[in-house]
Amino acid sequence: MSEALKQLEEYRTEVSGRLASVDALSTDGLQLSDAEARLRKIKDLSVELTGKKSRLAEIKKAIGKVDAESRAEFAQEVQSIEKTIRSALETAESRLNEHISSLSAERDAVDVTIPGRRPRTGHLHVLTILRQKIEDIFVSMGYAIEDDREIETDYYNFDALNIPEGHPARESQDTFYTTTGLALRSQTSTVQIRAMERRGVPIRILAPGKVFRRDTPDMTHTPMFNQLEGLCVDKGITMAHLKGTVTEWLKRMYGEDTVTRFRPSYFPFTEPSAEFDFSCFKCHGTGRFEGERCRPCKGSGWIELGGSGMVHPNVLLACGVDPTVYSGFAFGFGLERMAALMYNIDDIRHMFENDVRFLEQFR
Ligand code: DAH
Repeated sequence: MSEALKQLEEYRTEVSGRLASVDALSTDGLQLSDAEARLRKIKDLSVELTGKKSRLAEIKKAIGKVDAESRAEFAQEVQSIEKTIRSALETAESRLNEHISSLSAERDAVDVTIPGRRPRTGHLHVLTILRQKIEDIFVSMGYAIEDDREIETDYYNFDALNIPEGHPARESQDTFYTTTGLALRSQTSTVQIRAMERRGVPIRILAPGKVFRRDTPDMTHTPMFNQLEGLCVDKGITMAHLKGTVTEWLKRMYGEDTVTRFRPSYFPFTEPSAEFDFSCFKCHGTGRFEGERCRPCKGSGWIELGGSGMVHPNVLLACGVDPTVYSGFAFGFGLERMAALMYNIDDIRHMFENDVRFLEQFR
C-alpha cells in the first residue's frame, strides 16, 4: 500500500472516532435548549470536517499528486470517507431537527379546552348616558342638537346676551381668560346667539356642552361642568310653549305623574324669567320616602332644575331678528346636578376622577 493510502486510512480511523460520538447520542429526554446547542455543535463539526479549511479539503487537493497507479483507488477512498462523514452528520442533524420541532410544537400548543377570559367591555359615561337620553327626547320634538365652541369672546358670552360690561351678572360667571382676551364660555347660552346668526329663525335647538367658571371644587362645584341649553324661536311663541315643552320632557324622563312649576326669577337674557322645578322623582312630590325625609328633594317634594324665560328682545335684536314679529323661549340647566340627584351621587367630583369602580355603577 502506498504511503498516501496509508495516511488516508489513518484519517478514516480518526474521523470514525469523531463520528462515533455523534452517532451514539440519543435524543431521548433531551431538553429543547440542549438539543439546539447540540445541533449547533454538529454544524460546527461539519465545517471542521468538510469545510474549506478541513483536512479533507487538503487531502482532496492532494489527489493529483498521488502516484498514477494508486490515484484512482485513492480518489475512491477519499470519496467514500466524505460520504461517510456527510451521511453521519446529516442523520444526526435530521434526528435533532425532528426532536426540536416536536418539542417546540409541544411548547407552543394551545389548550383549546381552557375557558377564555372575557374581555372587559367599556360603556358610556354616566353624563353621556343622561345627555343622550335628554337629546333623544328633544330630537323627537323636532329640536336639532347644536354643538359650538368652548372658547368665546366677551361679546357672545355676555354682551349679545344682554349682559353689558359692569352688569352684576358678569361677576357670578367669572371665567377663565386667555392672554389674548378670549374667554372659556361660562354658559351654553352663547349658542343661542351663534345658532340664530347661523341658522336664522324659526329655530329649535338643544345645545349641550362644557362650561367653565372660576369656582373652587367642592361637593357641588367644579370649574368645568356641563349645561344643556334649549332655544325655540318662531312667530307666536309664548310662555305656554315653554311650560308645555319642559313639562313634556320631564314627564318622559321621570314618568307621566311628574308635575312642573315655574317660579319668577331674573336672567338678563330673558323677560319674563322663571326658574323651573319638577316634582321629586323619588317621593313623587310627597317629601317623604319610606317613612323618612326624602333625600333628593330634601323633603320639599320639588327639585330645582334650571332657568328659563322668554328670549329678551335685545337678544333677538343682537341676532338680527325682529322682536315685533318673532318671539321665543329659552332654558338652561346643569347636567352634573341632574345626574347627582338621579343617581344619588353626593359629590359631583367623582364624575371627573375616572375611577372605574365609580363609573361602572352607571351603565
Ligand atoms: N345661562 C344660565 C346660567 O348659566 C342658565 C339659563 C337661564 C339659560 C335662563 C337660559 C335661560 O337659556 O333662559 O345660569
